[in-house]
Amino acid sequence: MRLLDFRSDTVTVPSPEMRAAMAAAEVADDVLERDPTMDRLERRVAELLGKEAALWAPTGCMANGIAMMLHLSRGDRFLAPVAAHVLGSELGTAAWLAGGMPEALPWEGGPGKPTPIQVSRSAGNPGPYYALRTTLLCLENTHNFAGGTCTSATEHRALVETAQAKQLKVHLDGARVWHAAAATGASLADLAWGADTVSVCLSKGLGAPMGSLLCGTRAAIEEARRIRKMLGGGVRQGGVVAAAGLVALDYLPRIPEDHAKAARLAVGLRDMGLNVAEPETNILLVPVLNIPLALSLTEGVGVRVLPVGSALRFITHRDLKADDIDEALVRMQPLVAQLLTTWEGDRPMV
Ligand SMILES: Cc1ncc(COP(=O)(O)O)c(C=O)c1O
Repeated sequence: MRLLDFRSDTVTVPSPEMRAAMAAAEVADDVLERDPTMDRLERRVAELLGKEAALWAPTGCMANGIAMMLHLSRGDRFLAPVAAHVLGSELGTAAWLAGGMPEALPWEGGPGKPTPIQVSRSAGNPGPYYALRTTLLCLENTHNFAGGTCTSATEHRALVETAQAKQLKVHLDGARVWHAAAATGASLADLAWGADTVSVCLSKGLGAPMGSLLCGTRAAIEEARRIRKMLGGGVRQGGVVAAAGLVALDYLPRIPEDHAKAARLAVGLRDMGLNVAEPETNILLVPVLNIPLALSLTEGVGVRVLPVGSALRFITHRDLKADDIDEALVRMQPLVAQLLTTWEGDRPMV
C-alpha cells in the first residue's frame, strides 16, 4: 500500500528540476567571499520580505537561534505565544545559547495569537536596576501547533506597534509566513512589517531539502553572519543548496493548492462525523479520544500523521496530490467509529 505522508510539509523531496539547478549552480566559498548563488537567494528573499538583507541558515531552528542570540542578553525575558516553536520545540536554544527566560502568552487573540494588551501587560515598565527586563517579543505566523493559524497584517501591526512602544525587539518566526500571505492576501512585507528579524523556511511547503533565511537590517544581518559562524554554520559552496532555494520560491503561487487540499480533507472528515475545525492554511488538527490508538489505526491504513496535543495533525504539501486526499478519506472511513471524539469546542489546546 502506498504511504500517504501527512506528517509534515518537510517530507517533500527535491524535484528533478531542483536537482538539476543544484547540479548546475555557480558557486564560490561563501565564508571567504560571497557565493554568487547564495548571494542571489539572500537578496531575493530579503526583497520579498521587505527587509534590507538576509542570511541563509541550514534550518529554521538555527535561524531562530541566531535571532535570539542577536536580540537577547543573558537573563532577559522574552514573550512568545503558547506552544510557539521557539518555546517548546527548539530544545531550549533561547535559554541555553541566548540566555533568555521565556514567558508564554496565552492565545487571547484567537488560536496561536496573543493580543496587544497582553504584550503590553507582560512587557511591563522599565524598573530599577534589580528588576527583570523584558526585551523581546517572538511571534509565529502561521502558528504551527495552533493548527496553521494566520495572524493578519492588521493584527501583526498592532502587536508590533505595542512591542515597539514598550521598547521590545520583535522576531517573527515566519517558517510558514508564505502560507499566511497566501491565505490572508497580505503581502509578505506587510506580514513582516516592523519586525527586527524574520525567519522563513524553504524546506516547509516549498520543497527545498534545506534552508532558512533570517531577514533584517543590514547591520543586524552582518552581526547574524558572525553568530552563524560561531555556531559552525558558515557554509562554503552554499550555492548548491541556495540553487534549490531559488527553485523552491517558484512554488509560492501554488501554495493555495495545498490549502485547498487541507480544506477538502476537513470537509471529508467532517462528513464522516469527525469534529474538525476549518483549516486556515495547510495544517489540519483532528481531535481524537485516544492518540496512540488513532496513530496505530491511521498507520495501519497507510495514512501517516503526527500527534499535536490531543489531536492528529495532518499537513498537506506539494508531494500529496488532490487524489491522495480522496484516497486518504476512503482509507480512513472504516476507522471513524474508533476515532470519534467527545471533544467539544473550537480547537484542541496543546
Ligand atoms: C514554526 C516553525 N518554526 C521553526 C521550525 C524549525 O525548522 P527546522 O526544522 O528547519 O529547524 C519549524 C519546524 O517545523 C516550525 O514549524
